[in-house]
Amino acid sequence: MTENTTPDLSTTAGRIADLKGRLENLDIAQREASEKQRTRGKNGAMDRIKQLVDPGTGFTEIDKFRKSRDDGSGAKRPDRDAVIIGVGTIHGREVAIFSQDFSVFGGSLGEAAGAKIVKLMEYALKSGVPLIGILDSGGARIQEGVTALGKYGEIFRLNTAASGVIPQISIICGPAAGGAVYSPALTDFVVMVDKTSQMFVTGPDVIKAVTGEEVGMEELGGGLTHSSQTGVSHYLASDEPDAFDYVRTMLSYLPQNNLAEHPNYATVTEEAPNDRDRELDVIIPDSANQPYDMHDVIDHAVDEGSFLEVHQLFAPNIIVGFARVEGKPVGVVANQPKEMAGTLNIEAGEKAARFVRFCDAFGLPIITLVDVPGYLPGTDQEWQGVIRRGAKLLYAYSEATVPLITVITRKAYGGAYIVMGSKHLGADINMAWPTAEIAVMGGQGAVNILYRQELKEAEERGEDVNAVRTQLANDYTYSVASPFLAAERGEIDNVIYPHMTRVAIIRSMRALKSKRATGSPKKHGNIPL
Ligand code: HXC
Repeated sequence: MTENTTPDLSTTAGRIADLKGRLENLDIAQREASEKQRTRGKNGAMDRIKQLVDPGTGFTEIDKFRKSRDDGSGAKRPDRDAVIIGVGTIHGREVAIFSQDFSVFGGSLGEAAGAKIVKLMEYALKSGVPLIGILDSGGARIQEGVTALGKYGEIFRLNTAASGVIPQISIICGPAAGGAVYSPALTDFVVMVDKTSQMFVTGPDVIKAVTGEEVGMEELGGGLTHSSQTGVSHYLASDEPDAFDYVRTMLSYLPQNNLAEHPNYATVTEEAPNDRDRELDVIIPDSANQPYDMHDVIDHAVDEGSFLEVHQLFAPNIIVGFARVEGKPVGVVANQPKEMAGTLNIEAGEKAARFVRFCDAFGLPIITLVDVPGYLPGTDQEWQGVIRRGAKLLYAYSEATVPLITVITRKAYGGAYIVMGSKHLGADINMAWPTAEIAVMGGQGAVNILYRQELKEAEERGEDVNAVRTQLANDYTYSVASPFLAAERGEIDNVIYPHMTRVAIIRSMRALKSKRATGSPKKHGNIPL
């Protein structure tokens, strides 16, 4: 619509022309916004949406005409407020998307932008479709004061209401400052783009003014910091297309909502162990202290090539991610002997606990692979609250009612044995390889306590104490820590050949297909936070 044209609104044709003109103006504003973003080396809000949704399927924008209220100051109101909302499809399934536009008031959230996001969230929750937020925002719009804060509050409340009902994913493509960080923090998964996204509650300037500390934006809250150090981010994307790709892939494992069917990718199942399965028979080194890569076990245990790791850079001593078994999605939780000998620490416990709870909320069976020598000892862990924070994983497994299948590959010691999907916490099918060692503690530690007197006497007799200790430790491992002892007592259900793992998991999944579980009525539990 050219500026001087006044359409004749008394006719239908005039009204249609009016609509056309208004839409054209919005398109122009859209293009200008994208241009402005490009001058900053970023993509426009709509360009990002188009990269995320199925190519060529379009995106239905909602609230296209909504703009901020005239505040009477005479200030020009942007034609389009700082966010685009609407519905598109990913793998042919509907998703609700909002994408913040940094070119308008720095993507900040005022009344109109906040109301649009709230409207989208309410729609997503009612319709049971995943919610994806693309964030690029300076936080609460400073000019709008309490109204802006109020909208954040509404968004947080809806994030919480949607938690466990629809999958919620945040993609951080620029700054997410102040209030902008807490909505992503309440969502299930956060993806950050390396070097171009930063999340912080208070920025470098405020920190310097208050504490005198000098820190750059990237170091303070960049993608690497949040993916490896704080665990806020679940995936560090190399660039925006990589971020969108990851989210598209992740959605291929997830149901639309907690009551919906799971996506099912048909596969041809080989019921008999094959040559690839037999590679597992040689994966465990003869020496108990030698590590191996648990990723190899995961790759052999689920549909080939189906594992999608989540939180890869954070607490690498535990591995979590999605995979498929006979084409059906599952969650995988596994100790990683290659990192910190696979010990559990606070970060690993919290990482796995949140993942287990996500899987449980959305009905995804959990496969747990165990090789854990225990909790990481030390004052650092104790004083940081390993008791309170480590209890989260116990809680998460104990509360989970989805099919739980556990395979112990090697060590399963002490409290760490219990926490890693043991039968005692409610797991359904627990198996062990013949290389498993299930006990209160490892052989050497046990012998030092149980055979203190014998070792002393051996020393007095001038015998090689280390050799005696090793012999006693081996005896202990073969007798007390034996998986067959655990199987005799019914603490595990079976001892299997490593090469039978994939087939055993398939059969367990089939057996548990119609598992039902109901808890006692209560408002909600009180997980140690
Ligand atoms: C209004 C804002 C804004 C905001 C940025 N802008 N943030 N406008 N409200 N919160 C505007 C700027 O004025 C500027 O307008 C444009 O957006 C681009 O900002 P720049 O600073 O030029 O961009 P850049 O250098 O890339 O820095 C981006 C930034 C920085 C790191 C986000 O703008 C910043 O620190 N903003 C303030 C962050 C903040 O403190 N937000 C409030 C947090 S309190 P022009 O017209 O010049 O282009 C909060 C409370 C909620 O959110 C708490 C709930 C728990």
